[in-house]
Amino acid sequence: MSLIIVDQFSKTSPKLRSHFEKITKDDHSPDRFVWDFWNKPGRYVHLRTPAVRFFPEPLFKKIESELLAFGEEHLGCRSLSPLWLSCYINGCEQRWHADRPHGPWAFVLSLSPEDIQFSGGETMLLKPAVLNFWNSVSQLGNQSFEENDVVERVTPTFNRLTVFDPRIPHGVSPVQGTMNPLEGRLVLHGWFTQPRPHYKGTIATEKIETALAQFDEHLGDDLSQKMNEGIFSSSGTAAYRIVIAPTGKVSKVIALAHSLASAEPEGAYRDHRFLTTLVTDHFRAHSFPKAKTGSSLTLPLTIVGATED
Ligand SMILES: [Fe+2]
Repeated sequence: MSLIIVDQFSKTSPKLRSHFEKITKDDHSPDRFVWDFWNKPGRYVHLRTPAVRFFPEPLFKKIESELLAFGEEHLGCRSLSPLWLSCYINGCEQRWHADRPHGPWAFVLSLSPEDIQFSGGETMLLKPAVLNFWNSVSQLGNQSFEENDVVERVTPTFNRLTVFDPRIPHGVSPVQGTMNPLEGRLVLHGWFTQPRPHYKGTIATEKIETALAQFDEHLGDDLSQKMNEGIFSSSGTAAYRIVIAPTGKVSKVIALAHSLASAEPEGAYRDHRFLTTLVTDHFRAHSFPKAKTGSSLTLPLTIVGATED
């Protein structure tokens, strides 16, 4: 499943939490009157506000830059959607939905209390097993079947960053147990966007662009052939980091996060292996110009149905 969990994500989180507590405990602060009751019957109910308006600018910029750095380093995404701050108290929830086409990866950074008193408030994701439901039923025989067999639940532990493919049906289980926002499920959330190649180093831009254009052509041809043969069935993103030595030779190709998904059992695994081999073989055979230092090229690939972007 395309799910990444990073605990203790940032040293900025305690400062964000402190600011929330300071504002919320001050009955007379005008800054506390920024919340909207986001009530969409049958879909969502919680309090939310644009994070950029809630937090002081230096604090907001700090967490934004940390999230941007994470997206670039691990997902090959260069940008973020506007960030939301949401608070869930008694009865608040998100029903099952998918986010298309907000961005290739969604994220939730929990700023909930360290000592959680409420129940619920988990991020819920439908497991890929549902795509293979009848096969799994025959394998399980008469074994019992519970909700957690098909639902992944991530608790909103303080400072936990949860990143997932927002095409997966997901939601937030109903929060019960408190009407006090200070005790509620507090999360900063949004989407990583703009999966685009990114080069860090001193090789001239046109040389990098040439290598990328050659790869695009190569990938397009190979992918069309595989799809026509019915042996590539995934869609999603797959990011790679190509490490270039000062000699101009590619010393390493690192597979970063991917969200390839296929209704075919093992299809995503097979297709990711195919893409990894293709990227590795292509760039290892490519000669970049010599440079004084090593450099790296981050390459996110977006596979949309039967075509590639
Ligand atoms: Fe969502």
